Amino acid sequence: MMLLQVQGLTKTFGGLRALDDVSLSVEEGTIHGLMGANGAGKTTLFSLIAGNQAPTAGSILFQGRRIDGLSPDHICRAGIARTFQIVRPFAGLSVRQNVETGALFGRVPRLGARAQAALVDEILHDCGLGALADRQAASLTLSARKRLEVARALATGPRLLMLDEVMAGLTPAEVAEMIGALHRLKDRHGLTILIIEHVMQALNRMSDRITVFHRGRLIAEGRPDAIATDPAVAEAYFGVDDAAEGAP
Ligand SMILES: Nc1ncnc2c1ncn2[C@@H]1O[C@H](COP(=O)(O)OP(=O)(O)OP(=O)(O)O)[C@@H](O)[C@H]1O
Ligand SMILES: [Mg+2]
Repeated sequence: MMLLQVQGLTKTFGGLRALDDVSLSVEEGTIHGLMGANGAGKTTLFSLIAGNQAPTAGSILFQGRRIDGLSPDHICRAGIARTFQIVRPFAGLSVRQNVETGALFGRVPRLGARAQAALVDEILHDCGLGALADRQAASLTLSARKRLEVARALATGPRLLMLDEVMAGLTPAEVAEMIGALHRLKDRHGLTILIIEHVMQALNRMSDRITVFHRGRLIAEGRPDAIATDPAVAEAYFGVDDAAEGAP
């Protein structure tokens, strides 16, 4: 079953088409990767799906129901959570309190206090934050802040979890740790994951399918092995990097 269906999605900012007539489906229970050079429109896609911005044209269906035009809190309660590329925890609150605020917003506020606390504990543990639960969020390393961002999103009880570069800036060991955590979380919470990542190896290893964007347009979609050898991807994506590296 397709959990998410995006049809003809367009977003313009003045004269700029950040997303241009994009159609994309995400199958339930999969990890679906999104890649593309800087400015390709990946984060904009998340913002439209999560209701943080309104599309210029097109439609978004979640579980077969139109969600474009709904407010972010409605969309969150419907079962979609996102992380932000620039992590923004409540710096003065503890790690645990940050995750608890996530739980206030989403699908699970009807849990009793004890069940709620157990869920928060489980999420902290699965995100490798158990030992840091009482630390101030401001004191965390980048790696732990990224995992806190995932934990907060997860606490809303999503069916679709959208991760925006949660591995950026991490060491290879921390990337491996994050991949392990995401697989555990996916299995335990029955998640479907839409993930933006520049760390190519991680994206290839994790994803069932990958969609590639270039300047607002969808230019390729398929299994990771097919994407890795797609000439249009090589030209649009790696070509940009090569040119930049070769520049004086
Ligand atoms: N609120 C905004 N107002 C104006 N332009 C915007 C806004 N948000 C994004 N853009 C522009 O839209 C384009 C797509 O941006 P977006 O952030 O979606 O790219 P991205 O693929 O996430 O890039 P990156 O890999 O750098 O995070 C860029 O040219 C960006 O400058
Ligand atoms: Mg982005």
